[in-house]
Amino acid sequence: MSKVFAEIEEIFNAKLAEEYLGEDVKLVEHMLQCGDLAKSVAAPDYLIVAALLHDIGHLLVDDAEGAHHEGVDLHHDLVGAKWLEARFPATVSEPVRLHVAAKRYLVTTNHDYLAKLSHASVQTLYMQGGPLNQEEVIEFISREGAEDAVRVRLWDDLAKVRDKPTSALQDFKEAIDSVALACVK
Ligand SMILES: [Fe+2]
Repeated sequence: MSKVFAEIEEIFNAKLAEEYLGEDVKLVEHMLQCGDLAKSVAAPDYLIVAALLHDIGHLLVDDAEGAHHEGVDLHHDLVGAKWLEARFPATVSEPVRLHVAAKRYLVTTNHDYLAKLSHASVQTLYMQGGPLNQEEVIEFISREGAEDAVRVRLWDDLAKVRDKPTSALQDFKEAIDSVALACVK
């Protein structure tokens, strides 16, 4: 088994019961649903891995739920990207780094998008800075991985279905191993 898959498995197993911050699904279930949505449209392996692991930052911090209730932003996007960039190429880490900014981008540029967000996601939107200004929109779309971050974000929003059967983490092993940096395999 590759080192990085074993690490991810340990993190997922330790946090199986973790709630997903005001949503109807557990965090790990949400991440598996997100990976499945990427798989269902035959996205490339790096993007399936980014979708699956986009919220790993929530699993890496203690008491994400407590912080959420207190309205504290733990910057799970940045925490997750930092962990991922030591293990995967930028094609994986950058969409994860930008998936919160992608929500702010979509709210700003697509008028129907806000109405489709879950209640919890609207709440955190304002904790995360709300809509972008014009300069920030330009800055966002010029960043590496921005387009993929938008794709991950749209799957993220759909991956909140209570009791939906999902793939197991093991089903993503091949994709994870094929994308991981050689030094962590
Ligand atoms: Fe998410």
